[in-house]
Amino acid sequence: SPVDWRGKRVVITAGGTREPIDPVRFIANRSSGRMGFALAAAAAACGADVRLICGPNALDTPPGVTRIDVETALQMAEAVSAIESMDVFIGAAAVADYRVAEIAPQKMKKDPAQPGLTLHLVPNPDIIATVARRANRPFVVGFAAETEQLLRHAAEKRIAKGMDLICANEVGDGRAFDQPDNALTLIWSDGSQQLPLAPKATLATEIVAIIDELMRR
Ligand code: C5P
Repeated sequence: SPVDWRGKRVVITAGGTREPIDPVRFIANRSSGRMGFALAAAAAACGADVRLICGPNALDTPPGVTRIDVETALQMAEAVSAIESMDVFIGAAAVADYRVAEIAPQKMKKDPAQPGLTLHLVPNPDIIATVARRANRPFVVGFAAETEQLLRHAAEKRIAKGMDLICANEVGDGRAFDQPDNALTLIWSDGSQQLPLAPKATLATEIVAIIDELMRR
């Protein structure tokens, strides 16, 4: 039977964050936002009230989805913390683990006398771990993009961050990031399921069905 998420509040982060260096430069990553947008579309299609908090991207907002655009990890964390109650949280964003400690107020000049340049980085807050520590915690879903030892790293990450479900995807060599298709392994406390290579829209529908099943237990 089709998933009925009418009345459910779903919050999804998507895309990569941008961490400014100076007024014209930033640190970014290869995330396109496509997986998070596909999940937002799938959840909205099930009747959920969906808020999509996303880094800069070129994607159309899925019908029925409330979109909140942000740029940095701190802004994304702030936008998530402003949402008081949610039933499901899906962290599909590629959040920068570090930001530049002091953003230069003016464009940095190249100094030919210096052999190199060192940027001082400080850690960003972990958005998904913060949500998972809420008193009234939602069902928490995260992603793990790894270039090696995928399943081991994903299983450890699920527990370390307090997620109910983690979706592991291999990246590197042109896989997953900015691609229309993906292949995932889903891992929860007492089970796992492989979702073979398919369009992200198909995977999103399958993920929503698995979340729905796990939430009913
Ligand atoms: O540690 P790593 O970045 O690989 O973890 C990936 C998962 O954690 C993703 O679900 C991502 O959205 C989430 N994350 C987060 N806040 C961070 C870093 C990662 O929510 N600062």
